[in-house]
Amino acid sequence: MKSFSIHHCVLLLLTLIFTTNALDLTSVTVKLNESAVLPCKWNCSGLSKWTMIDTQGIVAWCNETCWSDAGFLISHDQYLKGDLSLTVTAANYIKRGWYNCQCNETEICSVRLSIDTLVSSLLLKTHALLVLDLSILDSVDVIYRSHNSKDLYGENICNVTKSLLQCKAEYTHRVLQRGIFLILNNITVSDSGFYLIKDRRYNEIIHIYTLQVEEIPEVVNVSVNFDDSVTFSCKYKCSLTAEWIYKNDITVAQCNQTSCWSKNTYVMPHDEYLKGNLSLMITAADYSKRGLYRCHCGNTILCPRHLTIRPIRTAVQLRFGEYLLMNLSIPENVEVMYNQSVIYDTTSKQICTLKKGSLECDDKYTQRIERVLRLQVNSNDSGLYTIRDMENNEVIHVYNVSVAEVHPHPCNKYGLCFSPGHVITTCVGLLLSFSLLL
Ligand SMILES: *[C@@H]1O[C@H](CO)[C@@H](O)[C@H](O)[C@H]1NC(C)=O
Ligand SMILES: *[C@@H]1O[C@H](CO)[C@@H](O)[C@H](O)[C@H]1NC(C)=O
Ligand SMILES: *[C@@H]1O[C@H](CO)[C@@H](O)[C@H](O)[C@H]1NC(C)=O
Ligand SMILES: *[C@@H]1O[C@H](CO)[C@@H](O)[C@H](O)[C@H]1NC(C)=O
Ligand SMILES: *[C@@H]1O[C@H](CO)[C@@H](O)[C@H](O)[C@H]1NC(C)=O
Ligand SMILES: *[C@@H]1O[C@H](CO)[C@@H](O)[C@H](O)[C@H]1NC(C)=O
Ligand SMILES: *[C@@H]1O[C@H](CO)[C@@H](O)[C@H](O)[C@H]1NC(C)=O
Ligand SMILES: *[C@@H]1O[C@H](CO)[C@@H](O)[C@H](O)[C@H]1NC(C)=O
Ligand SMILES: *[C@@H]1O[C@H](CO)[C@@H](O)[C@H](O)[C@H]1NC(C)=O
Ligand SMILES: *[C@@H]1O[C@H](CO)[C@@H](O)[C@H](O)[C@H]1NC(C)=O
Ligand SMILES: *[C@@H]1O[C@H](CO)[C@@H](O)[C@H](O)[C@H]1NC(C)=O
Ligand SMILES: *[C@@H]1O[C@H](CO)[C@@H](O)[C@H](O)[C@H]1NC(C)=O
Repeated sequence: MKSFSIHHCVLLLLTLIFTTNALDLTSVTVKLNESAVLPCKWNCSGLSKWTMIDTQGIVAWCNETCWSDAGFLISHDQYLKGDLSLTVTAANYIKRGWYNCQCNETEICSVRLSIDTLVSSLLLKTHALLVLDLSILDSVDVIYRSHNSKDLYGENICNVTKSLLQCKAEYTHRVLQRGIFLILNNITVSDSGFYLIKDRRYNEIIHIYTLQVEEIPEVVNVSVNFDDSVTFSCKYKCSLTAEWIYKNDITVAQCNQTSCWSKNTYVMPHDEYLKGNLSLMITAADYSKRGLYRCHCGNTILCPRHLTIRPIRTAVQLRFGEYLLMNLSIPENVEVMYNQSVIYDTTSKQICTLKKGSLECDDKYTQRIERVLRLQVNSNDSGLYTIRDMENNEVIHVYNVSVAEVHPHPCNKYGLCFSPGHVITTCVGLLLSFSLLL
């Protein structure tokens, strides 16, 4: 119904344009880039010449011989037979307008060259860019008319005069000019309608764009604990195949009237689908399931959901010289952040990054960290260690570490040298036996 009314409107607009042209009997209308023949029949025994009125430029002439400018053709044989017709090899906006032919300085023919109105229809999503080809820059109006407007003409939203763009106040911040293109950004459903590119000088419509803007539903963020189940609710009666698509191209579940199918750990019940419930359940959420999910019913996009996994929080009690083991959990690039404060704060200092499997740490830590992120702790290493996914900008794991204050001096006192990097257990063992001796 909607598409019928759009076509109907274009036809109406085109009829109006062609009616005005049809009254003009000496006008020749062709498609852009096609050749056009400007007719003129006359037995001229002297000099015949074609002039473009706008520029007053001579484009072709014939007497004992013929000459024509680039882009124009005239035939001497035809001239001798009384046919002075001029061929324009490829019609374009520069070559439009009135031409006249003279024989011995007397005007014998006057013909107007016009170009067919171009018609394009565009289907865009909200926030996309609308790009309109203005074709010329000397004097054009951009006219907008909504699909259901009563006013057949619509309103002038922008105009270009000698390359200078001017727009109505409500459009100025959204419009850009790039050469012969006018770009309207951040389009919304209310921008749907017709855009007419009108040549003011010749009062011709160069191009009619019909724009249909599709609403994209807002993405809902969903977070879940690691290994827990989660359901993306989605109520929609879908008589076509309903599909849940992960990261734009992976189908994880789908239902049609006869049955449902889903990948391991994803559930989409058939009875719920038939009831108009397209909800998707993930039985055990892990890091490989993070990201964007969208349900498609035919071409309609429904229920976009962005899944994140809540950071795992682990409290670790260590003694001086013991190892802090940090699980990196995911294949993505990660960074390890440290802050002595136990309050999670995004201003923590980066101490290591693991990018494409290659570990790089701050000088202070390089000696003490092994590839598995086994950090041998000093007494001043208490605080929060945060493992952050750098690609998805998500916190994966937070280790709240407290290192017990065991002073290394007793070891030195009994001749055992302690150096950071040594395993402390022997020291602690000795210390214990020493206390027992006392
Ligand atoms: C016409 O020709 C020009 C240049 O040759 C080209 O850029 C343009 O796309 C053509 N337009 C059409 C509608 O064929
Ligand atoms: C020009 O002259 C030829 C021969 O004399 C004749 O056949 C033809 O009809 C004439 N054309 C015009 C346009 O008068
Ligand atoms: C045009 O001028 C030429 C001589 O310059 C003459 O021979 C010829 O008859 C003229 N033709 C017309 C149609 O007046
Ligand atoms: C033919 O016309 C051209 C352009 O007006 C002129 O330059 C040329 O001398 C003419 N040739 C003859 C033989 O009259
Ligand atoms: C061009 O647009 C501006 C802003 O809408 C308007 O003020 C001006 O009158 C227009 N010029 C023409 C020639 O239509
Ligand atoms: C896009 O348009 C919407 C609604 O008109 C507005 O809220 C939003 O701020 C705009 N965004 C930009 C980047 O202009
Ligand atoms: C969802 O999360 C993204 C980043 O993780 C954020 O930019 C966006 O504002 C959130 N959307 C809502 C509706 O909270
Ligand atoms: C429904 O989907 C199943 C697989 O999910 C497929 O084998 C079957 O052909 C589909 N039926 C119809 C009617 O599309
Ligand atoms: C929709 O289906 C899901 C299972 O996929 C179920 O958990 C949920 O309760 C259903 N919602 C309604 C409103 O029936
Ligand atoms: C690391 O974390 C992942 C996911 O949280 C878990 O499956 C795995 O068992 C952990 N490995 C160790 C050594 O704790
Ligand atoms: C640690 O966090 C506190 C607030 O919790 C912040 O003021 C401080 O700058 C952070 N330290 C570092 C080294 O980033
Ligand atoms: C922490 O202690 C180690 C040795 O115990 C020392 O080398 C390092 O400078 C200390 N770091 C800070 C920030 O105090």
